[in-house]
Parts: sequence; C-alpha cells; structure tokens
Amino acid sequence: FDTANRDKYRPLYHHTPLYGWMNDANGLVYKDGEYHLYFQYNPYGSVWGNMHWGHSVSRDLVHWEHLPVALARDTMGHIFSGSSVVDKDNTAGYGAGSIVSFYTSASDKNGQIQCMAHSSDNGRTFTKYEKNPVLTPFDGLKDFRDPKVFWYAPEEKWVMIVSADKEMRFYSSRDLKDWTYMSAFGDGYGVQPSQFECPDMVQLPVNGDVNIKKWALIVNINPGCLFGGSATQYFIGDFDGTKFVCDTKPEVVKWMDWGKDHYATVCFSNTGDRVIAVPWMSNWQYANIIPTQQYRSANALPRELTMYSEGKEVYVAVNPVRELESLRKETREIPAFTVEANKAVSIDTLFAGNDGAFEINMNVATGESSIAGFQLVNGKGEYVDIYLDLNAKKLVMDRVHSGIVDFGKNSVPHEKEAHDNRIANSINYVDDFALATWGPLSPAQEHTLRIFVDKCSVEVFLDGGKVAMTNLVFPNEPYNSLNFYSKDGSCRINSLVLYKLGL
Ligand code: FRU
Repeated sequence: FDTANRDKYRPLYHHTPLYGWMNDANGLVYKDGEYHLYFQYNPYGSVWGNMHWGHSVSRDLVHWEHLPVALARDTMGHIFSGSSVVDKDNTAGYGAGSIVSFYTSASDKNGQIQCMAHSSDNGRTFTKYEKNPVLTPFDGLKDFRDPKVFWYAPEEKWVMIVSADKEMRFYSSRDLKDWTYMSAFGDGYGVQPSQFECPDMVQLPVNGDVNIKKWALIVNINPGCLFGGSATQYFIGDFDGTKFVCDTKPEVVKWMDWGKDHYATVCFSNTGDRVIAVPWMSNWQYANIIPTQQYRSANALPRELTMYSEGKEVYVAVNPVRELESLRKETREIPAFTVEANKAVSIDTLFAGNDGAFEINMNVATGESSIAGFQLVNGKGEYVDIYLDLNAKKLVMDRVHSGIVDFGKNSVPHEKEAHDNRIANSINYVDDFALATWGPLSPAQEHTLRIFVDKCSVEVFLDGGKVAMTNLVFPNEPYNSLNFYSKDGSCRINSLVLYKLGL
C-alpha cells in the first residue's frame, strides 16, 4: 500500500490506521513496556467489511507504530471485537506470560461464537485455537459477541463477559478454554439499546480510597445515544465473582462521554492500578461516510478512568492520560481577562503555522453571566461553539457551523430511534451531524476546561473529567482563533494556556 498520508483530516496525535477502515479498539493489553492496540480493521478499503484485527503498539500511548494484521478473517467468518489477557500463571498451557486473545467469529452460517488465539511473540503473531469456538450461546442468540476476559483474583479464575443482545452474560473458566455460565445483567437497565456491544468491567477505588472499591460495568449501546446513534454508558455496582449487582435503580443512566463520537470504549488489561480506556472516535450513524478517503476513523485519546462520589452516586471521571503532556511543543500563556456582557474578546492567531493540533487549558469564573463561552474560529468563519449555559446547567458543544457538515443528512434514515423516554431533553434530531451535544454542569463559581483539537476532532474534559465530550468536526482550514463571549453579565477567564501539539 501507499501509506504516505493523503488525507487532510488525518489527525496528528490520534491513532489512525495507515490505510483502510477501523472501528472498535480490540484486545487492549499492556506487556513488557508495550501497549498493544488491536482494532476492528478492513485492510481492503475504508468502509466497514472483511473484519480483521489490525495492530499497533506504543510505549507511551502517544506514539504508535503500525504492525501487520494480527488476526485475519478466516473460514469461520469475520474477526469481530474482543479482548486480550496476559496468562501469567500459564493456565492455558501456552507458556507463562503468553498473550491470549478472545474474539467473536461472525458469519451467517455459524452465527456469533467466541474464539481464542494465543501469541508467544509479544502479540506479533497469533495461533488460533484448534478447537474453536470456546463458547457458543446456549439459546442460539443471534447477537452474542465482544468477549471481555479478566482475571478475578479472589477466586483465582477467569471471567468472561459477553454482550448478549439485551444483557451481558458472565462466564468463568480456570484454563481459558472451558467456560461455565454464571449470571446475566442488563435487561431493563439504563438506556436500552437495540443490543449491547463491547462490554468491559473494571474495579476502582472511590475518591482514591483503596478501602472503598466499586466495579464499573461499561457497555456500549447502538443506538441510544442522547444525540442519536452510538454511545457508551456504565453501571456502578459490586461483583462477587459470580454476579454483578448494580448500586442504582434500573432507570439511572450514566454516560462515559457526552459527545457524539465516542464508542466501543474498552480498557487495557494488565496495567496495574491504572485503568486506561480507548474509544473509537465515530458514530455508526455516519462512520462510513465521513469526509476522509484513504482511511476511516481514529481512536479518541486514551483516557484514564477514576471514580468519585457525588451525593449517593458514584461516577467515573474521564481524563486524558498524562503521557499526552509530552505533545506540548509551544506554550502561550494569556494573562487573566474579563469578558463583559455582549463584548467579545478575540485571541487571534493562536499559533503561527497552526496545523490544527493544539490543547487549551482554561479556568473560567462564570460571575453573573448566563452563558460563558468561546468559539474556535478559522479564517473561513467556520467555528465550534463551546459554552457553559448557567441557567440550563449544561456544557454545550455546537458544531453546526464547524465546517463540512452536510454528509449527516445522507446517513441511514433512523428518525425516532431509541431515545429512551426516561431521558428528559432528548431530541429527535433531523441531522445526524450538524448539531450540538451537551453534558451536565455541576454548580460551582469556577470551571476548568481542557480541550484537545486535532484536525478533525474536539475533545473537552470539564472539571477534572466529570464530563468528557468528544466530537468530530471537519473545518475547511484549521481553527486558529478564540472568540470569548458572555451574556447578561461578565465572566472572567482566570487562566488560559495554549499548547501547540506535535509528535
Ligand atoms: C461495535 C461492533 C461490535 C462488533 C464490531 C464489528 O462497534 O458492532 O459489536 O464486534 O463492531 O465490527
């Protein structure tokens, strides 16, 4: 393949395949200093099909090296999503420390069945298990996929979670080969999708207190996103080795990201105390028709997950991994300033030679304003509008005028898809792409925002990760100025630091 970049929108510091189509991150595993990112991959074109596991590795979650396909499609079908573990105790017999991966073989003939493969060369090449599949649905379920395997130390056993249509099914095994059904969770919980996909489950201390740990069961749903299409929700609860019990009532909904381009999020295994998640940065509504050609879709930034409590609820905070600070190549510190009502303050030419890859850190005192915000603007007058709506208590990102947006109208007709009527404010969008997304704003005098821009994406992390919001944008030229505004009263930008980012 000709792998020189030919796409104007190819991100600078987000992982993309050199050529072809990518969706979900698969088999994320850390071993011997390397982060392995496998991914749903079509090596033959930049639309979905012919699914393989592509492969990239990184030592720092920032610089990625592209490696040959790890698992190729075979006579059993597509290689769908799944997970990897490091088998430290040699439970499967392939040698201590081998990487063992699980994926779904999907075909019309065999349906969706779970298969295994192992690697003895640090994840470079895999041997598929000769007795595959290791797990088939006991009731002939059609949607039965995306196995997530993890070690449950208290009982020294492996646990597999499989998304099984309207629920997640839990299985256990001693040797990674024989799996026994334990329990199911999900039916009636959260936003009910047409089917669950790509489950993951991680345990974390709440508010950093290692004596209080909770499990977060992460599940991806499609459709069901507040703004249409695909999104990631999670449930907080306890797991006793057999069964997940959710802390909250079935109707409670917790989103991991409040944008429209955050899906199939799963976490690395074998990272010790850190929980690092990698989303796919697109939405099934239009993923196949976004305006790139040579490749389609990037991963959103790797994010570190932590847990905090607010009132009686426990939530997951989502922050970009600290390794990303190594991208900062140029720093611009802007002295504090006040934005009077209806008198915009512009910061022009963020960087000379701005190629659309930068980070913005700010602290905003909202004062008496009803709306405090700013626009990321380019020379063509295209802009992304990001604001705090103090009355509605929302963080909003509006991409209606962000650049190329018209392909949203052509996507699959879907209209009144599953915006669960439990969710107030859900909107029946007529355009899948030209829209605004919002997330909740906790009351406070000041708010911090971290914003990452990379050619075709804007990721916002609010107040230490209480809200993450990931959205694609396709400006005709890079945004290179900031236009601050305030309504009904003034607000103050206490601090503003801009970083030009580069690899
Ligand atoms: C989620 C998903 C998975 C499936 C894969 C197929 O985006 O639909 O459930 O394994 O993509 O590519």
